[in-house]
Amino acid sequence: MTYLGIDLGTSSVKLLLMAEDQRIIGSASAELSVSRPASGFCEQDPADWITATRQAAQELRAAHGVAWAALHGIGLSGHMHGATVLDRADAVLRPCILWNDTRSHAQAARLDSDPRFRAISGNIVFPGFTAPKLVWMQENEPDLFDKVAKVLLPKDYLRLWLTGEHLSEMSDAAGTSWLDTGARDWSDVLLEASGMRRDQMPDLVEGTAAAGRLRPEILAEWGLSGPVTVAGGAGDNAAAACGMGTVSGGAAFVSLGTSGVVFAATDSYLPRPESAVHTFCHALPDTWHQMGVMLSATDALNWHARICGESPAALVAELGRQVQAPDAIFLPYLAGERTPHNDARIRAAFVGLDHATDRPAITRAVLEGVAFAIRDNVEALRAAGTTLSRVTAVGGGARSDYWLSVIATVLGLPVDVPQDGDFGAAFGAARLGLIAATGAEPRAVLVPPPTARTLLPDAVLGDAFDAGYARFSALYPLLRDRNSPPRK
Ligand code: XUL
Repeated sequence: MTYLGIDLGTSSVKLLLMAEDQRIIGSASAELSVSRPASGFCEQDPADWITATRQAAQELRAAHGVAWAALHGIGLSGHMHGATVLDRADAVLRPCILWNDTRSHAQAARLDSDPRFRAISGNIVFPGFTAPKLVWMQENEPDLFDKVAKVLLPKDYLRLWLTGEHLSEMSDAAGTSWLDTGARDWSDVLLEASGMRRDQMPDLVEGTAAAGRLRPEILAEWGLSGPVTVAGGAGDNAAAACGMGTVSGGAAFVSLGTSGVVFAATDSYLPRPESAVHTFCHALPDTWHQMGVMLSATDALNWHARICGESPAALVAELGRQVQAPDAIFLPYLAGERTPHNDARIRAAFVGLDHATDRPAITRAVLEGVAFAIRDNVEALRAAGTTLSRVTAVGGGARSDYWLSVIATVLGLPVDVPQDGDFGAAFGAARLGLIAATGAEPRAVLVPPPTARTLLPDAVLGDAFDAGYARFSALYPLLRDRNSPPRK
């Protein structure tokens, strides 16, 4: 038997075929584009998701015919928060408004000022979340809004095509601002407060549960005899956590990608919206997760590298192996910041430069600034009741041992680096497909990858980095008041 993970990303859809023993057989991707019809708008045509999935499926089938024919379970992952609106006949009413579309910022602020939203959903109502998008439609496209019979999250629209079912699962539903995240059910109070009804929502299952079977038409198109079970699946971050085995209280990963994410699994519901921590349901029953999001992680190093006309790797190589105490301080808010400040207008700064500040010193400050921002996120999670004893580092930035040593020292925690491999959202989704199709115990399947190496905090430099973090923390309030572009 084999299992397929489908990860609907913003720039491509990725399909990954996995064997029963979790060996990766192969993967295929097909590009997707976004359209930006006005400033702050970001949309995709749901029909393109189907075209891209079909294309990648064909490629995978052509490359791995025997394994493909043994397909037994599918898991879905996707970019979160998007509003795919359907009429009574399941026809798409308008392009999907995506997670990074900010047109509904005024509607989001209005909903967020109603204390029931934070109290019940456990999160700030961010402009990217789903509920304010429907309020925007109500105000700007009233004729279309009146026709909305169902609102589906992006991956759940793929499920509708695959299975004919209107279903979602807890992790993605938690990013709508309509879920009672503690109770794992739609909130009639929040739906009503944004002009919506429960019958416009899909039914909910857990991510590990079976949520439909491939339709006969898809079985025929894909050359399968079936039956093929489709799991509830997960939003992309929870799916990535399933790939990384970050599924039990205390387990956490730091993703050093373009943006940075600190993701922690929790065995109970611990919301803390005031520090812009996201608290969502996890893909497993009775499990939640918290997430802090930094908008510039490797992006900060890339920015510095661009200015120097060097590659990021060359700049980091200049630092050698031995971590040095912090000197100049960099606040990495090149694109504003989400957690813990929730401040779209804040901008970056260097503080404490002098004649001795050379290029390596600036590189060090950039890496340290991102590490201090990670500590801000870990402190925000700690304030929400999550204590971490170690973290796993993933993403492009995790290739630099210098950076990881700085992060270990700033956090005072060991940082583990997994063995090379593909442990992302598509792999996590395939694992969920296996669980749903076989009834396997989720935690027996969702195990962490082997650790390749561990970076430990530098005991000698701990105090110097604590002092650096104190300087970093004191600077944000000053910067907020003095260094932002004019507020509109
Ligand atoms: C999570 C978030 C993104 C999207 C797109 O809150 O906005 O991770 O899921 O990847």
